[in-house]
Amino acid sequence: MSSYSVPRGMRDFYPDDMARRTKLFDAWRLAAENFGFAAYDSCVVETLDLLKRKGGEEITEQIYAFQDKSGRDLALRPEMTPTLARMIVAKQGSLALPVKWTTIAQCFRYERMTKGRRREHYQWNLDIVGEPSVSAEAEVVATALSAMRSLGVTSDIARVFYSSRRLLSEVLATLEVPDSDHAHIFLALDKRGKVPDEKIHELVAAAGITEDSLGKLFTVMSMTSLEQVTDMLPADSPALSELSAFRHLMALHGVADQIEFDISVIRGLGYYTGIVFECFDTERKGRAIFGGGRYENLLSDLGGKPTPAVGIGFGDVVITDLLDEHGLMGSAPPQDITIGYMDAAQRDLATNVATSFRTQGRRVDLALHAEKAKHFFSRIGKGQASYAIYIGPDDIDNGTIRMKNLSAREEESLLLSDLLGS
Ligand code: HAM
Repeated sequence: MSSYSVPRGMRDFYPDDMARRTKLFDAWRLAAENFGFAAYDSCVVETLDLLKRKGGEEITEQIYAFQDKSGRDLALRPEMTPTLARMIVAKQGSLALPVKWTTIAQCFRYERMTKGRRREHYQWNLDIVGEPSVSAEAEVVATALSAMRSLGVTSDIARVFYSSRRLLSEVLATLEVPDSDHAHIFLALDKRGKVPDEKIHELVAAAGITEDSLGKLFTVMSMTSLEQVTDMLPADSPALSELSAFRHLMALHGVADQIEFDISVIRGLGYYTGIVFECFDTERKGRAIFGGGRYENLLSDLGGKPTPAVGIGFGDVVITDLLDEHGLMGSAPPQDITIGYMDAAQRDLATNVATSFRTQGRRVDLALHAEKAKHFFSRIGKGQASYAIYIGPDDIDNGTIRMKNLSAREEESLLLSDLLGS
């Protein structure tokens, strides 16, 4: 045994894992295409400066950072959003906004390893940049749910829980907490359930909130329905009308049963400003399957024009575990045709036959050396091919080959002259 192993938290993808990954990526790509997103990409190495942000986010503590040989401070990206924002800002003069962009990005975070957390993961991103209306939130959530549906994940398995930072800001305004303290309070509240309540009290109190307001804020945070929160706010609250428009559009997208208001959804990233959402399995165990929301200041923070944006990040780790738990991952599709032969003398014919089928667009696995029929059929017998062709000396003499349909257990004779055109 080699003394080398994959670095902790990083992943090897053997062919079986790769087949599963491809199935997931295909579902992501198809959903993005169906909803009109354009694909983009960038290098996994970013400048550290772009990724670092001030202010209490876990993600900035987890960055894999290094210097290149010229002393530049670089990093492996922990998420795609700053890169996307940088790319849009660079072309802001020439891009016709809004744009709908998608990518599958490999990301790295130095995380404590628990279920659903790796130090390397792939993250499907959907972002709509330049659209102020809630149609953008509805579009990204509907796209992600469409991928979930095509993977067989229904509302009894997982649901999207949503809330709004704007709503919480309006609540904080009624408690006379200045706007400048809201972002800090959001990040503290996001830690509820992960650290003791006293610690959160301390963090929120550090933002200058009075003991009385703190009590009221915690009362709001324990509310379970949007109607309860509605009573606290004026009838013309912009956050409430946005949430109701979101609900309305989600119903038109046909996914009303897959979304649920939950005030505890805040998100651990600092840049969100409006509606936020996270998808969990219905028991709400483990890490979010996907998460995102509206972010209105990130592009201007990076030197661009003020531009509203909405996006989602959907990792490969949690969903793969969920698909396995529910038996939804399935197995890799079998090879279409596998060709074997008895003696080296039939290698040329077998290669010609393989070439002919491959030219027709069939997927063909050609044996690399001669083998006994018994060995060939037992090798491919375990669901690894749909059709089998085994070529022996008689076939050349008869001018035919036999193609076995392995599931129907039927056999068909094919004329070599038809197949090879000679
Ligand atoms: P995030 O919530 O940090 O958001 O990550 C999004 C998703 O990526 C998570 O829900 C999870 O599925 C997956 N994920 C993140 N970290 C790990 C990890 N260490 N191991 C396994 N899976 C992980 C963002 O990154 C935002 N940038 C998403 C976004 C795009 N917001 C707007 N646009």
